[in-house]
Amino acid sequence: MRTSLSSVVSLLVALVPQSVSAACECGYSTHSIKSNENEVYTDVLETDFLHLPNFSEQEDWNRQVWSIPPVGTAHWGRNMTLDTVQPNALAGDVGTAGVNGGDPGLQMYVRGGVPEGEGVPSSEIATARRDILYGSFRVGMKYTGENGTCGAFFFYWDDTQEIDVEFLSKLYTNPNKSDLLLVIHAPSDVPTSELFRPTTVDFRPDFGYHEYRFDWTPKTVTYYADGKFLWESTRGVPTHAGGLTLNHWSNGDPGWSNGPPAKDAHMSISYVKAYFNTTSEASNANYQSRCRDLSKPDTICKVPDQTSPPDPNQSTTFLSPNQGKPAQDSPPPPKPADPAPPAPGPVDVTPPALDPEAPAVPGSKNVTTDGSCG
Ligand SMILES: *[C@@H]1O[C@H](CO)[C@@H](O)[C@H](O)[C@H]1NC(C)=O
Ligand SMILES: *[C@@H]1O[C@H](CO)[C@@H](O)[C@H](O)[C@H]1NC(C)=O
Ligand SMILES: *[C@@H]1O[C@H](CO)[C@@H](O)[C@H](O)[C@H]1NC(C)=O
Ligand SMILES: *[C@@H]1O[C@H](CO)[C@@H](O)[C@H](O)[C@H]1NC(C)=O
Repeated sequence: MRTSLSSVVSLLVALVPQSVSAACECGYSTHSIKSNENEVYTDVLETDFLHLPNFSEQEDWNRQVWSIPPVGTAHWGRNMTLDTVQPNALAGDVGTAGVNGGDPGLQMYVRGGVPEGEGVPSSEIATARRDILYGSFRVGMKYTGENGTCGAFFFYWDDTQEIDVEFLSKLYTNPNKSDLLLVIHAPSDVPTSELFRPTTVDFRPDFGYHEYRFDWTPKTVTYYADGKFLWESTRGVPTHAGGLTLNHWSNGDPGWSNGPPAKDAHMSISYVKAYFNTTSEASNANYQSRCRDLSKPDTICKVPDQTSPPDPNQSTTFLSPNQGKPAQDSPPPPKPADPAPPAPGPVDVTPPALDPEAPAVPGSKNVTTDGSCG
């Protein structure tokens, strides 16, 4: 019986499990599906939330605690708390459910029903690192189907340096398609109409896990879902280093989040993968010292494109030294040169396409991560 090509290939894959380039000492090469060009980045931040039983075991992400009162047409404030962020690691090595049952991954909740306090209990996590400058950023996640929440995966420095993918469960009226809200926040000389792009995808974010990705270069911001090109903007491209945030919230604003949801609503994060350059001197010095020979092909790891919905029951490629798991003995990530700002975003943007009448809602500025308003 002759050996099929695919079994030879899988044998080779089994024999050389990413070890060719496991060190990635000269960085990570990402492929632009839009332009077919590659970019090489020095740093990596990957989190495998499917295998994270306890949030405290990792140091790359912090749960954010802050609250703001109702603004504009919102009926409620927003109250980012700790217990709304719940790990739900896979029960088996690979299995359909998490240890707490249901969708595996980090569950980020918006509490349902009438809130006890002024704000709707909501959830937010942000990277400790605020030194991220250009890169390719991906999240595997399943959104909620409970009407009345807004969720977002975004890059943030301040309200003029921000790249968002936003989700509104109130839009999920058609089982076959939905809109994602792609939003860039830039200085006011760029009209917001050019920076806000509702984009239809042929799936429902709450029916399964999908990968949402944005690539940020000095000239462009390019969005993808499951590797399908969605939108590219050359306007409003951030120029300042910052961090990544995921959040899920409601404030009852009929022009945006709606809600609060009738029942507790959660989105489930299976992974975050980020390949980027950094403004951290320590990280750049680390790169200089570990990348001895750029000409050796094995020193740069090739980051694969995710071109189908990422199935939590199948393994996904991690290239970081710990394969997306918390670092055991390695030193904590370098501290950024800049002080960490609050991450209150994304600002409510009143979508012209969805609600042309509603006034713009002022942003949640002057909020600190410890919950005080400055
Ligand atoms: C998670 O880890 C922290 C720190 O090690 C520990 O204090 C806490 O009890 C753990 N939580 C659970 C639910 O095991
Ligand atoms: C936010 O939630 C915390 C914890 O549940 C609660 O103690 C606090 O009163 C809430 N704040 C607001 C403004 O709703
Ligand atoms: C969510 O509720 C709003 C307000 O009641 C309604 O307009 C919208 O159609 C609902 N969306 C879904 C998906 O049911
Ligand atoms: C969704 O797709 C199914 C299968 O193609 C079709 O039968 C149904 O009419 C579609 N529903 C809507 C609301 O477009």
